[in-house]
Parts: sequence; structure tokens; C-alpha cells
Amino acid sequence: MSQRSKAQIYLDTNRTISPISPLLFSGFLEHMGRAVYEGIYDPASPHADASGLRTDVLAALREINYRSMRYPGGNFLSGYRWLDGVGPRDQRPRRRDLAWQSVETNQFGTNEFIEFCKQINTEPMLGVNLGTGTIQEAANLVEYCNAPADTQYAQMRAEHGYADPHGVKYWCLGNEMDGPWQIGHLEAAEYGMKAREAAKMMRWHDPSIALILCGSSNSVMPTYPEWDRVALELCWDQVDYHSMHYYAGNRTDDTDSYLALAAEFENFVDTLSGVLRYVKAKRRSRHDVHLSWDEWNVWYKAAGPEFNRGEWTEAPHLSEEVYNLEDALVVAQWLNVFLRRADVLKIACVAQIVNVISPIHTTRDALLKHTTYYPILLFSRLASGAALDVAVQSPRHETKQFGDMPLLDVSASYDEGSGANTVFIVNRSQTESLPVELRWQARAPQSIRAVHQMSGSDPKAFNSLAHPNQIVPVQVAAPVVQNGAAELLLPPLSFTVVETQL
Ligand code: AHR
Repeated sequence: MSQRSKAQIYLDTNRTISPISPLLFSGFLEHMGRAVYEGIYDPASPHADASGLRTDVLAALREINYRSMRYPGGNFLSGYRWLDGVGPRDQRPRRRDLAWQSVETNQFGTNEFIEFCKQINTEPMLGVNLGTGTIQEAANLVEYCNAPADTQYAQMRAEHGYADPHGVKYWCLGNEMDGPWQIGHLEAAEYGMKAREAAKMMRWHDPSIALILCGSSNSVMPTYPEWDRVALELCWDQVDYHSMHYYAGNRTDDTDSYLALAAEFENFVDTLSGVLRYVKAKRRSRHDVHLSWDEWNVWYKAAGPEFNRGEWTEAPHLSEEVYNLEDALVVAQWLNVFLRRADVLKIACVAQIVNVISPIHTTRDALLKHTTYYPILLFSRLASGAALDVAVQSPRHETKQFGDMPLLDVSASYDEGSGANTVFIVNRSQTESLPVELRWQARAPQSIRAVHQMSGSDPKAFNSLAHPNQIVPVQVAAPVVQNGAAELLLPPLSFTVVETQL
């Protein structure tokens, strides 16, 4: 292990990017694998409450404090008939889910999801099926959820035990409709017209809802970013957010490039924010549309057809990715990007929340927190107020995929109300400890409240039920603040969070 020249991080509480939308710390729950069944809902588990929800999973989700929860898919959404999942449970059909080739029992549906959201104090975000579904069915679901109970679908809700409307604000207009794998996949213009008409009807039921358009499924789609332009031009006045999805992986086992992926994430945001600006100008509009990164995560070890086919069984083990240290460092950088682009990114949902590509893994009686649980937890707890425009001077290194890259990846938040100021720092180097000076250029703290750090010598180290604490954050000694500056030593392969109070 070697040591390089000192890095500098300059913080100025007057130099803000934008308020941080709390919805950047949101999650995604899909009817896929063991996410719903055996994940959050498992009446047979010793941890289940009276309604079948797993109390240990609820506790972990409450700790992370997801601000909103996207549901029910995902690819599942595009074949989902929402009426299957409401009403008396013994009358709900067992169906083949074509997206994941699994059996869907429909024992968990819209009302159970709303109850789950109440349990973890999160805002529901529902998707409407624009694959096999019609615009009428989409509008009916809004009536079912949000209208007062004196017309057919709202009355049905009351008969199902919910006299008061659920008041669901956030609605996704389909899922990944640009993808040929999607049930009912459409061309951009076809999708744009269908989404626009669905949006009109949904809003006529409830003008207070916020609508999220399907953007590109990832930045390597052949239709990207043209899909985004076409769909946005057709729907601009009807929608509030435009979605983006991306799954990252270290597929060639090139850790230096993998740990530089923040460059790719920022590039994706930059391109789409350019499309947003173009469409706004072209439409001569005063309306703004923001980005919703409503599926993001690492997914490559348990990816591919053999991990995605349920062989027509209930709750199959699909895509149960085990996360390691380098994955956690990529997740931390992703969250750094959310703060650095807080001007245009207003929603982000980690995909997903339990068992399927998730920070949490369950067995019938145990729960494991993967490495990625911890950066999400630290950001969700500590990033509030406004994102700061941090100036960083960092030693650099060469990567195969992204060329010359800084070794440090940094973001910071400052909450004027509480005075909390937090700095999030990833050291990408696999070998070098980096001394860093934090220098506050306007208000400076008297002292540092806490320094949390995750690190390790093996980028592939992971947590398991036998060894659950291999990679977890620990508190390290807080340096003194002198003349508005403090010095830290950042170990290689590390994520460090510096908590201060201004
Ligand atoms: O999150 C898993 C799947 O990834 C989702 O169902 C789909 O939208 C995406 O391709």
C-alpha cells in the first residue's frame, strides 16, 4: 500500500446546487422472485405479523427510511391485471406471470401494498400497465385508489374495506416500454400517444397526481436518446417526471473501470437533461419535467436468463445478487451523483428492496444486510437540505474504460435548518491511502461530530449469514478542526462519511 500527495475538498455553504429531493432515497418492489412473497409478505415466517408482513424486514426498511416505493413492477407490470389483486383473497386468481415465468397467486395486491407503505411510512408510487393494459384500465385504477366512494371503482374499494381514498400521488406510465423484452413493447411514438391519452384520463380522475413517463431502459439501448425525445415531445404537458433505468456490473472483472462508473452515470443524466431542455425549448414551454431514476442498482452476477425464469413456480429464487465491497463503493458513488445532479434528479428508486437485486436478503427465519445496505442507509439518514457544489483536487489514475479519472468521488449536503453538513467520499484506489484536507470556505464547524467508514483490502469481500459483519461501516476517530480545515486519511477501497454541524 502506498500513499500519494494530499487531496483537497473545498466546501462552501453558499455554493449550493439545489435542494435535495427526499424522494432520491426511494425503493422499488416488484412481483418478481422472492421480493413480495417470502420477502416482505411471508405468513409462514416466524417473523410475520398478523397480516403476514415480516416484522424483521419492516424494521430494516424503516431504518433505511425509503421516502417512496414504486410498485408492482417492473416487467411484471406490463402483464398485470390490477383487478386480480383486490377483493377477497380466496377469490383471487392464480395466474402465469409471463415476465418472470412464475406463478402469481395475487395474495398481495394494491391494498396490501398501501398497508405495507403505511407500515414503513413511505409514499406509494403505483405503475399502470401500458403493455397489455388499456388506457381505460389505467384510469379505472386511479378511480379505485383516489376517488370518493360513490362511483363503480371507488365503491369497489369501499367494499374491499377502504372507504377513504388512498390518495396515491405518484404514478408511472408503464415500464420500460422501449424494450423488445417488454410485454406489449411499443415504438416511441406509439408509446408516447398511449401514455399521453392514459395520462389525460388519469388526471381527469385526480388532477393532483404526478405522472412519470417511461424513458430509456438504459443508455445502451439502440433507441436512446431518440426514444426519450419522441416520448417527451408527445407528452411534455402531461407529465412531471421522465424515468431512467440502469444496472451496473463488473462484467470483465476490471475493478478500476468499475469503480469509475460514476462518469457513466453522470453522462446518462447529462444527456437526458439535454433532451429535457431541448424539448422544453421546442415546445416553448414554461413547464418543467425532472428525472426519475426509478430503477438503479448493481446487477450482473445473478443476471441472465437462468436467473430470470421461474419455471412456473411461486416465489422462485430469481436474481438474488450477493453484493461485495466494490459493489457498495459503486452504490455510494451513484448516490454521490444523485446529490451532484440534484438540480434535475428528483426521484431515484433502488431496484429492488428485498431478495431480488436488493440490499436485504431473507431466509424463512433470518435477515442479512448486504454491503450495499450501508451506503444507502448513510445517505438516506444524513443527506438533507441542499447539495453543495464541492470543489475537489484529487490525485488521478488511468482506467481502461474511462481514461484518466480522479481517485476521489465526492458529494456533500448542507441543511440550513438543522445546520447539519455531511461530506460523502469514495476513495477508488485499490492500493493507495489518500490523505485529504477538508476546507470549509464559508461557515466552518467547531468540530466533527462523527466519521463513518467502510473499507477493506478485498474488493470481493461480502457479508453472509455466517459472517454478517465482514463489510459494515465503523466509526473512526474524528479529526480536529483547525482554522476551518480538518485532515483525514482515506484507506484504499473506502467510503467515508464526515458528519458535522455548522
Ligand atoms: O428490476 C428488475 C427488472 O429490470 C425490472 O422488472 C425491469 O423494469 C428491468 O429490466
